[in-house]
Amino acid sequence: MNKQPRICIIGVGDVGSTTAYTLLLRQRCQELVLIDANEKKALGDALDMNHGMPFLGGTRVWQGSYADCAGASIIIIAAGSAQRPGETRLDLLKRNAGIFDSIIENITKYNQDGILLIATNPVDIMAYLSYRKSGWPSQRVIGSGTLLDSARFRYLIGDKLGVDPRSVHAHIIGEHGDTELPVWSRANIAGIDVSLSDAEKQEIYTNTRDAAYQIIDAKGSTYYAIALALDRIVAAIMHDESAVLNVSTYLEDYHGISGVYLGVPCIVDSSGVREVLKLQLTDEELALLQQSAQTISEKIQSVIN
Ligand code: 2OP
Repeated sequence: MNKQPRICIIGVGDVGSTTAYTLLLRQRCQELVLIDANEKKALGDALDMNHGMPFLGGTRVWQGSYADCAGASIIIIAAGSAQRPGETRLDLLKRNAGIFDSIIENITKYNQDGILLIATNPVDIMAYLSYRKSGWPSQRVIGSGTLLDSARFRYLIGDKLGVDPRSVHAHIIGEHGDTELPVWSRANIAGIDVSLSDAEKQEIYTNTRDAAYQIIDAKGSTYYAIALALDRIVAAIMHDESAVLNVSTYLEDYHGISGVYLGVPCIVDSSGVREVLKLQLTDEELALLQQSAQTISEKIQSVIN
């Protein structure tokens, strides 16, 4: 198997450590480095995972420092505060933007040619800031974007219609957050439009958009599905898949939208985002995407000025 030689995870809170465990189970890399300001937590996770090696094998895991980013092919950033009940992702911006400057500086001191995969919220803005700060081509700075939201959407549509979610083709695009939008005009199963009433569609969209609030309210944070989404992106890079995934990427004249990171369908291969796909949208969908871009753009201005 074409494993990645080394993957680093910066930030081993719920998302970072669940992602590490998912990558281990799926045998994605030869070396997995856990880096966290809380060194004890990273050490504890590394020990705990190493003790599973007699059942898994194949991966060296250790608690490391930024110097270990040297030679990493993928660096996943999941550091920062998570939403508390009642908070939006955008509420986290000031707190998380503050720590990203030094994180990106520390990574780029040791690594100049890897792929940065950002999961920290608000993910579209954190990916944009990482792109700017690193100076790397946007192709190699990827946000998890609306891949998770699209998965939630496909799951809910599949559940309603009694179809495996892997056979549901449907996209959530825009912000990974409250202004995201469903592209109902393109949703299909085997090329057939999904047959749902307007009320059912609205319910599915609302449940998709608000899924994280529901989970955070129930158990404090979300981590299993985002870990699988990050693993999916790693797999697309690792196997040079050219898979179409709704990740957050830098937009340049995407239906007239430029200068922001947003979740849209992208072709992902070993180079990162090889191509951004221009999904055909209705006028109404385009207006919602423009609103989402406007929201993100204003937030970016508020942190860079
Ligand atoms: C999620 O959507 C909180 O962004 C995280 O699960």
